[in-house]
Amino acid sequence: MTIGIDKIGFATGRYRLDMENLAQSRGVDADKFSKGLLLDALSITPITDDIVTLGASAANSILTEDDKAMIDMIIVATESSIDQSKAAAVYIHKLLGIQPFARSLEFKEACYSATAALNYAKLHVEKHKKAKVLVIASDIAKYGINTPGEPTQGSGSVAMLVSQNPRLLEIHDDNVAQTRDIMDFWRPNYSTTPFVDGMYSTKQYLDMLKTTWAEYQKRSGKTLADFSAFCFHLPFPKLALKGLHKIMDKRLPDRKKETLKANFDASIIYSRQIGNIYTGSLFLGLLSLLENSNSLQGGEQIALFSYGSGAVAEIFSATLVSDFKKQLQTNRKEQLNQRQSISVADYEKLFFEEATLDAFGNANFANYATNDFYLSAIKEHQRIYEAKHG
Ligand code: CAA
Repeated sequence: MTIGIDKIGFATGRYRLDMENLAQSRGVDADKFSKGLLLDALSITPITDDIVTLGASAANSILTEDDKAMIDMIIVATESSIDQSKAAAVYIHKLLGIQPFARSLEFKEACYSATAALNYAKLHVEKHKKAKVLVIASDIAKYGINTPGEPTQGSGSVAMLVSQNPRLLEIHDDNVAQTRDIMDFWRPNYSTTPFVDGMYSTKQYLDMLKTTWAEYQKRSGKTLADFSAFCFHLPFPKLALKGLHKIMDKRLPDRKKETLKANFDASIIYSRQIGNIYTGSLFLGLLSLLENSNSLQGGEQIALFSYGSGAVAEIFSATLVSDFKKQLQTNRKEQLNQRQSISVADYEKLFFEEATLDAFGNANFANYATNDFYLSAIKEHQRIYEAKHG
Protein backbone atom coordinates (compact mmCIF):
# COMPACT_ATOMS: atom_id res chain seq x y z
CA MET A 1 0.00 0.00 0.00
CA THR A 2 1.27 3.48 -0.83
CA ILE A 3 0.30 6.60 1.17
CA GLY A 4 0.59 10.24 0.19
CA ILE A 5 -1.13 13.27 -1.27
CA ASP A 6 -4.19 12.42 -3.34
CA LYS A 7 -5.38 15.98 -4.02
CA ILE A 8 -4.03 19.47 -3.45
CA GLY A 9 -6.00 22.73 -3.39
CA PHE A 10 -5.12 26.37 -2.91
CA ALA A 11 -6.71 29.69 -1.96
CA THR A 12 -5.17 33.14 -1.59
CA GLY A 13 -6.21 36.73 -0.85
CA ARG A 14 -8.32 38.34 -3.56
CA TYR A 15 -6.27 41.57 -3.58
CA ARG A 16 -2.86 42.07 -5.18
CA LEU A 17 -0.13 44.54 -4.29
CA ASP A 18 2.38 44.98 -7.11
CA MET A 19 5.98 45.15 -5.93
CA GLU A 20 6.79 47.97 -8.32
CA ASN A 21 4.25 50.18 -6.54
CA LEU A 22 5.56 49.18 -3.12
CA ALA A 23 9.15 49.88 -4.21
CA GLN A 24 8.19 53.30 -5.52
CA SER A 25 6.29 54.17 -2.37
CA ARG A 26 9.17 53.05 -0.09
CA GLY A 27 11.81 54.82 -2.19
CA VAL A 28 13.51 51.54 -3.12
CA ASP A 29 14.88 50.51 -6.54
CA ALA A 30 12.25 48.15 -8.05
CA ASP A 31 15.03 45.68 -8.99
CA LYS A 32 15.69 45.06 -5.31
CA PHE A 33 12.34 43.30 -5.03
CA SER A 34 12.11 41.75 -8.52
CA LYS A 35 15.77 40.59 -8.71
CA GLY A 36 17.04 40.81 -5.11
CA LEU A 37 14.07 38.90 -3.60
CA LEU A 38 12.51 37.44 -6.80
CA LEU A 39 9.07 38.82 -5.93
CA ASP A 40 6.60 40.50 -8.32
CA ALA A 41 3.40 40.80 -6.25
CA LEU A 42 1.88 39.98 -2.86
CA SER A 43 -1.58 38.54 -2.05
CA ILE A 44 -3.37 40.82 0.39
CA THR A 45 -6.35 39.87 2.57
CA PRO A 46 -9.04 42.09 4.11
CA ILE A 47 -10.26 41.73 7.70
CA THR A 48 -13.00 39.32 6.52
CA ASP A 49 -10.34 36.73 5.60
CA ASP A 50 -8.28 34.70 8.04
CA ILE A 51 -6.71 31.23 8.29
CA VAL A 52 -10.20 29.68 8.56
CA THR A 53 -11.69 31.30 5.45
CA LEU A 54 -8.57 30.67 3.37
CA GLY A 55 -8.20 27.09 4.65
CA ALA A 56 -11.86 26.20 4.10
CA SER A 57 -11.77 27.74 0.60
CA ALA A 58 -8.60 25.83 -0.36
CA ALA A 59 -10.14 22.54 0.82
CA ASN A 60 -13.52 23.31 -0.77
CA SER A 61 -11.84 23.48 -4.17
CA ILE A 62 -10.83 19.79 -4.02
CA LEU A 63 -13.23 17.83 -1.79
CA THR A 64 -16.15 15.71 -3.00
CA GLU A 65 -19.05 14.55 -0.82
CA ASP A 66 -17.38 11.10 -0.73
CA ASP A 67 -14.17 12.64 0.61
CA LYS A 68 -16.14 14.46 3.33
CA ALA A 69 -17.69 11.17 4.42
CA MET A 70 -14.22 9.51 4.65
CA ILE A 71 -12.16 12.27 6.31
CA ASP A 72 -11.67 11.41 9.98
CA MET A 73 -8.99 13.97 10.84
CA ILE A 74 -8.42 17.64 9.97
CA ILE A 75 -5.13 19.27 10.90
CA VAL A 76 -4.55 22.98 10.38
CA ALA A 77 -0.90 24.01 10.48
CA THR A 78 -0.46 27.72 11.12
CA GLU A 79 1.55 30.44 12.78
CA SER A 80 -1.12 33.13 12.42
CA SER A 81 -3.74 31.50 14.62
CA ILE A 82 -7.00 33.31 15.45
CA ASP A 83 -7.54 31.75 18.89
CA GLN A 84 -5.26 30.53 21.68
CA SER A 85 -7.65 27.71 22.56
CA LYS A 86 -10.06 26.67 19.81
CA ALA A 87 -8.47 25.03 16.76
CA ALA A 88 -9.17 26.59 13.35
CA ALA A 89 -9.79 23.04 12.14
CA VAL A 90 -13.01 22.90 14.19
CA TYR A 91 -14.48 25.87 12.31
CA ILE A 92 -13.33 24.37 9.01
CA HIS A 93 -14.87 21.00 9.90
CA LYS A 94 -18.28 22.69 10.15
CA LEU A 95 -17.91 24.99 7.13
CA LEU A 96 -17.04 22.04 4.89
CA GLY A 97 -19.66 19.64 6.31
CA ILE A 98 -17.17 16.89 7.23
CA GLN A 99 -18.77 13.84 8.90
CA PRO A 100 -18.97 14.32 12.72
CA PHE A 101 -16.73 11.47 13.93
CA ALA A 102 -13.52 13.26 13.08
CA ARG A 103 -10.56 14.63 15.04
CA SER A 104 -9.84 18.36 14.47
CA LEU A 105 -6.71 20.08 15.73
CA GLU A 106 -4.04 22.71 15.10
CA PHE A 107 -0.25 22.32 14.80
CA LYS A 108 2.37 25.01 15.45
CA GLU A 109 6.08 25.46 14.82
CA ALA A 110 6.46 28.54 12.63
CA CYS A 111 6.53 27.65 8.91
CA TYR A 112 7.45 24.02 9.58
CA SER A 113 4.35 22.46 11.15
CA ALA A 114 2.51 21.37 7.97
CA THR A 115 5.37 18.93 7.38
CA ALA A 116 4.78 17.38 10.82
CA ALA A 117 1.04 17.35 10.07
CA LEU A 118 1.63 15.43 6.84
CA ASN A 119 3.73 12.94 8.73
CA TYR A 120 1.06 12.42 11.40
CA ALA A 121 -1.57 12.07 8.65
CA LYS A 122 0.52 9.40 6.97
CA LEU A 123 0.97 7.45 10.22
CA HIS A 124 -2.80 7.64 10.79
CA VAL A 125 -3.61 6.25 7.34
CA GLU A 126 -1.07 3.46 7.87
CA LYS A 127 -3.14 2.32 10.88
CA HIS A 128 -6.58 3.10 9.43
CA LYS A 129 -6.35 2.18 5.78
CA LYS A 130 -9.69 3.61 4.64
CA ALA A 131 -9.23 6.92 6.43
CA LYS A 132 -8.56 10.20 4.67
CA VAL A 133 -6.86 13.08 6.45
CA LEU A 134 -7.23 16.73 5.48
CA VAL A 135 -4.01 18.68 6.11
CA ILE A 136 -4.32 22.44 5.69
CA ALA A 137 -1.40 24.87 5.84
CA SER A 138 -2.94 28.31 6.31
CA ASP A 139 -1.33 31.65 7.09
CA ILE A 140 -1.40 35.39 6.63
CA ALA A 141 2.17 36.70 6.78
CA LYS A 142 2.25 40.25 8.21
CA TYR A 143 5.47 42.02 9.15
CA GLY A 144 4.14 45.57 9.29
CA ILE A 145 4.40 48.77 7.26
CA ASN A 146 7.94 49.88 6.37
CA THR A 147 9.64 46.91 8.01
CA PRO A 148 12.43 44.92 6.28
CA GLY A 149 10.05 41.97 6.01
CA GLU A 150 7.24 44.04 4.42
CA PRO A 151 8.08 43.05 0.81
CA THR A 152 7.92 39.37 1.80
CA GLN A 153 4.36 39.38 3.21
CA GLY A 154 1.54 37.34 1.69
CA SER A 155 -1.49 35.19 2.38
CA GLY A 156 -2.70 31.78 1.37
CA SER A 157 -3.66 28.28 2.23
CA VAL A 158 -2.75 24.89 0.76
CA ALA A 159 -5.08 21.96 1.46
CA MET A 160 -3.83 18.39 0.98
CA LEU A 161 -5.89 15.23 1.12
CA VAL A 162 -3.79 12.34 2.46
CA SER A 163 -4.94 8.81 1.69
CA GLN A 164 -3.82 5.36 0.67
CA ASN A 165 -3.13 4.81 -3.05
CA PRO A 166 -2.73 8.55 -3.68
CA ARG A 167 -3.12 9.80 -7.25
CA LEU A 168 -0.58 12.64 -6.95
CA LEU A 169 2.43 11.86 -4.75
CA GLU A 170 3.57 8.89 -2.72
CA ILE A 171 5.38 10.11 0.41
CA HIS A 172 8.45 8.11 1.52
CA ASP A 173 9.66 7.17 5.00
CA ASP A 174 13.02 8.92 4.79
CA ASN A 175 12.39 12.10 6.82
CA VAL A 176 15.35 13.67 8.60
CA ALA A 177 14.56 16.54 10.99
CA GLN A 178 16.76 18.95 12.92
CA THR A 179 15.94 21.27 15.86
CA ARG A 180 17.94 24.33 16.99
CA ASP A 181 16.83 26.70 19.75
CA ILE A 182 17.47 30.05 18.05
CA MET A 183 15.74 33.46 17.97
CA ASP A 184 15.58 34.31 14.28
CA PHE A 185 11.82 34.99 14.06
CA TRP A 186 9.19 34.74 16.78
CA ARG A 187 5.86 36.32 17.75
CA PRO A 188 5.02 36.68 21.44
CA ASN A 189 1.31 36.46 22.35
CA TYR A 190 1.10 40.22 22.89
CA SER A 191 2.30 41.13 19.40
CA THR A 192 0.36 41.06 16.11
CA THR A 193 3.59 41.05 14.07
CA PRO A 194 6.77 39.00 14.52
CA PHE A 195 10.14 40.04 15.87
CA VAL A 196 12.70 39.18 13.21
CA ASP A 197 16.47 39.05 12.96
CA GLY A 198 16.26 38.91 9.17
CA MET A 199 19.87 38.36 8.12
CA TYR A 200 20.43 35.83 10.91
CA SER A 201 17.27 33.97 9.81
CA THR A 202 18.57 33.63 6.25
CA LYS A 203 21.91 32.28 7.52
CA GLN A 204 20.14 29.76 9.75
CA TYR A 205 17.84 28.68 6.90
CA LEU A 206 20.83 27.98 4.67
CA ASP A 207 22.88 26.26 7.37
CA MET A 208 19.94 24.08 8.48
CA LEU A 209 19.50 23.14 4.81
CA LYS A 210 23.16 22.22 4.37
CA THR A 211 23.46 20.17 7.56
CA THR A 212 20.06 18.44 7.28
CA TRP A 213 20.78 17.58 3.63
CA ALA A 214 24.17 16.09 4.61
CA GLU A 215 22.49 13.94 7.28
CA TYR A 216 19.65 13.00 4.90
CA GLN A 217 22.12 11.78 2.27
CA LYS A 218 24.06 9.80 4.88
CA ARG A 219 20.96 8.07 6.27
CA SER A 220 19.04 7.49 3.02
CA GLY A 221 21.97 6.77 0.71
CA LYS A 222 20.34 9.10 -1.84
CA THR A 223 22.03 12.03 -3.57
CA LEU A 224 20.81 14.89 -5.74
CA ALA A 225 21.18 12.57 -8.74
CA ASP A 226 18.13 10.63 -7.47
CA PHE A 227 15.83 13.65 -7.71
CA SER A 228 14.21 15.49 -10.61
CA ALA A 229 13.27 18.47 -8.46
CA PHE A 230 14.01 19.98 -5.04
CA CYS A 231 11.25 22.04 -3.39
CA PHE A 232 12.17 24.54 -0.69
CA HIS A 233 10.35 26.53 1.95
CA LEU A 234 9.89 29.89 0.19
CA PRO A 235 10.01 32.88 2.58
CA PHE A 236 11.03 34.68 -0.63
CA PRO A 237 12.19 32.80 -3.74
CA LYS A 238 15.70 34.29 -3.85
CA LEU A 239 16.62 32.61 -0.56
CA ALA A 240 15.54 29.24 -1.95
CA LEU A 241 17.65 29.87 -5.06
CA LYS A 242 20.63 30.38 -2.76
CA GLY A 243 19.64 27.10 -1.13
CA LEU A 244 19.65 25.30 -4.48
CA HIS A 245 23.14 26.66 -5.21
CA LYS A 246 24.31 25.57 -1.77
CA ILE A 247 23.35 21.92 -2.27
CA MET A 248 24.14 21.71 -6.00
CA ASP A 249 26.60 18.89 -6.70
CA LYS A 250 29.09 20.23 -9.23
CA ARG A 251 29.87 16.69 -10.40
CA LEU A 252 26.34 16.21 -11.80
CA PRO A 253 26.03 16.16 -15.61
CA ASP A 254 25.03 19.54 -17.08
CA ARG A 255 21.69 18.13 -18.26
CA LYS A 256 20.78 17.09 -14.73
CA LYS A 257 21.75 20.50 -13.37
CA GLU A 258 19.61 22.16 -16.06
CA THR A 259 16.61 19.97 -15.19
CA LEU A 260 16.94 20.81 -11.49
CA LYS A 261 17.18 24.54 -12.28
CA ALA A 262 14.23 24.47 -14.73
CA ASN A 263 12.10 22.66 -12.15
CA PHE A 264 13.22 25.12 -9.47
CA ASP A 265 12.04 27.98 -11.71
CA ALA A 266 8.68 26.20 -12.13
CA SER A 267 8.40 25.84 -8.33
CA ILE A 268 8.66 29.59 -7.64
CA ILE A 269 6.17 30.85 -10.26
CA TYR A 270 3.27 31.13 -7.79
CA SER A 271 5.30 32.43 -4.84
CA ARG A 272 6.68 35.24 -7.01
CA GLN A 273 3.05 36.40 -7.39
CA ILE A 274 1.84 35.70 -3.84
CA GLY A 275 4.68 36.25 -1.34
CA ASN A 276 5.29 34.25 1.82
CA ILE A 277 2.43 32.09 3.09
CA TYR A 278 4.51 30.65 5.96
CA THR A 279 3.34 27.03 6.61
CA GLY A 280 2.01 26.66 3.07
CA SER A 281 5.02 28.11 1.23
CA LEU A 282 6.82 24.80 0.68
CA PHE A 283 3.61 23.20 -0.59
CA LEU A 284 2.75 26.19 -2.78
CA GLY A 285 6.19 25.59 -4.31
CA LEU A 286 5.28 21.94 -4.82
CA LEU A 287 1.95 22.90 -6.43
CA SER A 288 3.68 25.43 -8.68
CA LEU A 289 6.24 22.80 -9.70
CA LEU A 290 3.61 20.17 -10.51
CA GLU A 291 1.38 22.57 -12.46
CA ASN A 292 4.20 24.28 -14.39
CA SER A 293 7.05 21.81 -14.97
CA ASN A 294 7.49 20.79 -18.61
CA SER A 295 9.54 17.72 -17.82
CA LEU A 296 8.24 15.90 -14.74
CA GLN A 297 6.99 12.34 -15.29
CA GLY A 298 5.31 9.72 -13.10
CA GLY A 299 7.88 7.68 -11.14
CA GLU A 300 10.28 10.61 -10.68
CA GLN A 301 11.36 11.66 -7.20
CA ILE A 302 11.07 15.08 -5.56
CA ALA A 303 12.95 16.20 -2.41
CA LEU A 304 11.33 18.71 -0.04
CA PHE A 305 13.02 21.05 2.46
CA SER A 306 10.82 22.41 5.23
CA TYR A 307 12.02 25.21 7.54
CA GLY A 308 10.29 26.88 10.47
CA SER A 309 12.03 29.61 12.43
CA GLY A 310 12.85 28.93 16.01
CA ALA A 311 13.93 26.52 14.43
CA VAL A 312 12.95 23.14 13.01
CA ALA A 313 13.96 21.88 9.57
CA GLU A 314 13.10 18.63 7.81
CA ILE A 315 13.94 16.99 4.50
CA PHE A 316 11.78 14.24 3.06
CA SER A 317 10.95 12.91 -0.38
CA ALA A 318 8.10 11.71 -2.56
CA THR A 319 7.52 9.90 -5.85
CA LEU A 320 5.17 11.23 -8.51
CA VAL A 321 2.30 8.92 -9.39
CA SER A 322 1.72 8.25 -13.11
CA ASP A 323 -1.10 10.43 -14.47
CA PHE A 324 -0.56 12.91 -11.60
CA LYS A 325 -1.46 15.77 -13.97
CA LYS A 326 -5.11 14.70 -13.86
CA GLN A 327 -5.19 15.80 -10.19
CA LEU A 328 -4.12 19.37 -10.98
CA GLN A 329 -5.67 22.63 -12.18
CA THR A 330 -4.71 24.25 -15.46
CA ASN A 331 -6.13 27.76 -14.87
CA ARG A 332 -4.22 28.84 -11.73
CA LYS A 333 -2.43 31.73 -13.42
CA GLU A 334 -5.72 33.11 -14.75
CA GLN A 335 -7.16 32.91 -11.22
CA LEU A 336 -4.18 34.83 -9.83
CA ASN A 337 -4.57 37.44 -12.55
CA GLN A 338 -8.18 37.97 -11.44
CA ARG A 339 -7.06 39.40 -8.08
CA GLN A 340 -7.94 43.07 -7.68
CA SER A 341 -4.87 45.28 -7.90
CA ILE A 342 -4.72 47.85 -5.08
CA SER A 343 -2.65 50.94 -4.32
CA VAL A 344 -0.11 51.05 -1.50
CA ALA A 345 -2.41 53.35 0.47
CA ASP A 346 -5.31 50.87 0.14
CA TYR A 347 -3.03 47.95 1.09
CA GLU A 348 -1.95 49.80 4.25
CA LYS A 349 -5.60 50.20 5.28
CA LEU A 350 -6.91 46.80 4.13
CA PHE A 351 -4.16 44.49 5.38
CA PHE A 352 -3.77 46.11 8.80
CA GLU A 353 -7.42 46.82 9.68
CA GLU A 354 -8.25 45.60 13.20
CA ALA A 355 -11.75 44.74 14.49
CA THR A 356 -13.27 47.48 16.64
CA LEU A 357 -15.32 45.63 19.24
CA ASP A 358 -18.12 47.33 21.17
CA ALA A 359 -18.55 46.82 24.94
CA PHE A 360 -20.29 43.48 24.31
CA GLY A 361 -17.67 42.08 21.94
CA ASN A 362 -19.53 42.76 18.68
CA ALA A 363 -18.05 43.98 15.40
CA ASN A 364 -19.36 44.29 11.86
CA PHE A 365 -17.28 44.58 8.72
CA ALA A 366 -17.57 46.23 5.33
CA ASN A 367 -18.01 44.02 2.25
CA TYR A 368 -14.74 42.84 0.74
CA ALA A 369 -13.72 40.41 -2.00
CA THR A 370 -13.06 36.95 -0.51
CA ASN A 371 -13.06 33.31 -1.65
CA ASP A 372 -15.81 30.72 -0.86
CA PHE A 373 -16.04 31.64 2.85
CA TYR A 374 -15.72 34.88 4.82
CA LEU A 375 -15.82 36.24 8.34
CA SER A 376 -19.18 38.02 8.43
CA ALA A 377 -19.07 39.46 11.99
CA ILE A 378 -17.89 39.01 15.55
CA LYS A 379 -20.79 38.52 17.98
CA GLU A 380 -20.12 38.42 21.73
CA HIS A 381 -16.45 37.63 20.95
CA GLN A 382 -17.44 34.71 18.69
CA ARG A 383 -16.23 34.70 15.10
CA ILE A 384 -19.13 34.14 12.68
CA TYR A 385 -18.26 32.60 9.31
CA GLU A 386 -20.48 32.31 6.26
CA ALA A 387 -20.31 30.72 2.84
CA LYS A 388 -20.48 33.09 -0.09
CA HIS A 389 -23.54 32.48 -2.23
CA GLY A 390 -23.53 32.63 -6.00
N1 CAA B 1 18.93 45.53 -7.67
C1 CAA B 1 19.06 44.19 -7.53
N2 CAA B 1 19.22 43.58 -6.31
C2 CAA B 1 19.28 44.36 -5.22
C3 CAA B 1 19.16 45.76 -5.30
C4 CAA B 1 18.98 46.35 -6.60
N3 CAA B 1 18.83 47.66 -6.75
N4 CAA B 1 19.24 46.25 -4.05
C5 CAA B 1 19.41 45.20 -3.21
N5 CAA B 1 19.42 44.06 -3.91
C6 CAA B 1 19.54 42.67 -3.42
C7 CAA B 1 20.63 42.52 -2.37
O1 CAA B 1 21.93 42.43 -2.98
C8 CAA B 1 20.18 41.25 -1.71
O2 CAA B 1 20.49 40.13 -2.54
P1 CAA B 1 21.63 39.09 -2.10
O3 CAA B 1 21.18 38.55 -0.78
O4 CAA B 1 21.61 38.08 -3.19
O5 CAA B 1 22.90 39.88 -2.00
C9 CAA B 1 18.65 41.34 -1.73
O6 CAA B 1 18.35 42.34 -2.73
C10 CAA B 1 18.06 41.75 -0.40
O7 CAA B 1 18.59 42.99 -0.04
P2 CAA B 1 19.27 43.24 1.40
O8 CAA B 1 20.38 42.26 1.60
O9 CAA B 1 19.59 44.69 1.48
O10 CAA B 1 18.22 42.83 2.48
P3 CAA B 1 16.81 43.45 2.89
O11 CAA B 1 16.96 44.72 3.64
O12 CAA B 1 15.88 43.48 1.72
O13 CAA B 1 16.28 42.34 3.87
C11 CAA B 1 15.57 40.23 4.65
C12 CAA B 1 16.19 40.99 3.49
C13 CAA B 1 16.38 40.46 5.92
C14 CAA B 1 15.55 38.75 4.35
C15 CAA B 1 14.15 40.78 4.86
O14 CAA B 1 13.37 40.58 3.69
C16 CAA B 1 13.44 40.10 6.01
O15 CAA B 1 13.64 40.43 7.18
N6 CAA B 1 12.53 39.14 5.69
C17 CAA B 1 11.77 38.41 6.68
C18 CAA B 1 12.55 37.25 7.29
C19 CAA B 1 12.74 36.12 6.31
O16 CAA B 1 12.04 35.95 5.33
N7 CAA B 1 13.70 35.25 6.62
C20 CAA B 1 13.94 34.07 5.82
C21 CAA B 1 14.47 32.92 6.63
S1 CAA B 1 13.37 32.60 8.01
C22 CAA B 1 12.13 31.64 7.35
O17 CAA B 1 12.31 31.05 6.33
C23 CAA B 1 10.83 31.55 8.06
C24 CAA B 1 9.88 32.48 7.42
O18 CAA B 1 9.13 32.12 6.50
C25 CAA B 1 9.86 33.87 7.89
